[in-house]
Amino acid sequence: MIVALDFDDVAAAETLVASLPVGRCRLKVGKELFLRAGPEVVRRWSVAGWDVFLDLKFHDIPNTVAGACRAAADLGVWMVNVHTLGGPAMMEAARAAVDAGGHATLLTGVTILTSHSDADLERIGIAGPVDAAVSRLGGLAVEAGLDGVVCAAREAASMRALGGPGFRRVTPGIRPAGVAAGDQSRVMTPAAALAAGATDLVIGRPITRAVDPPAALASAEAELSGAGDAPGL
Ligand code: C5P
Repeated sequence: MIVALDFDDVAAAETLVASLPVGRCRLKVGKELFLRAGPEVVRRWSVAGWDVFLDLKFHDIPNTVAGACRAAADLGVWMVNVHTLGGPAMMEAARAAVDAGGHATLLTGVTILTSHSDADLERIGIAGPVDAAVSRLGGLAVEAGLDGVVCAAREAASMRALGGPGFRRVTPGIRPAGVAAGDQSRVMTPAAALAAGATDLVIGRPITRAVDPPAALASAEAELSGAGDAPGL
């Protein structure tokens, strides 16, 4: 489970992280928190033993993305991502840069954002429908040697078929049973996403905005284990 730290306040993010035992879950730092907190908090959490997914979705010319990926890997993050729409040369440059740094950082690619519909792709000028575009871009990610993709849980099985069992399927849009979907339109429960082929579940507000975040995490874990009893915190 990867907890999405979508905070505009660094202190709130630090308080939440401090409430969780190190290693209990992984942490996702996106653009908002990164721009407010800077790389130091990412480095500090990584040094403290947290697996940090730096979710900045790089999309630029190959040389620039390679440099950004190298910098991310040097921070010690567990995972960094690019946008597959940046194309094969960009993804290959990112792969080479991460490998050259000698770090174990995983490199994943966003396919089509889950906020995009078939109509959006048509307006942008990307051949759809969404499922076909995701398969095409996922195939490019496999060819470029990426470690996986960020995709909707409903696309996880086709991504596994493309990349094999070791190709990670990182899926946002996770909502434990009984939790409001909010602005996410295609949601799945943790157990359903796992059954659909996801390997890493990104879950944000159901944990970060819970009255008791550690309890909300434990409850999602319990749902995943199917045991009904959450491990104690
Ligand atoms: O709060 P919630 O569980 O909806 O958070 C989901 C996280 O996953 C957010 O950080 C969001 O930016 C990210 N994400 C997403 N859909 C994508 C890619 C990333 O929701 N396609």
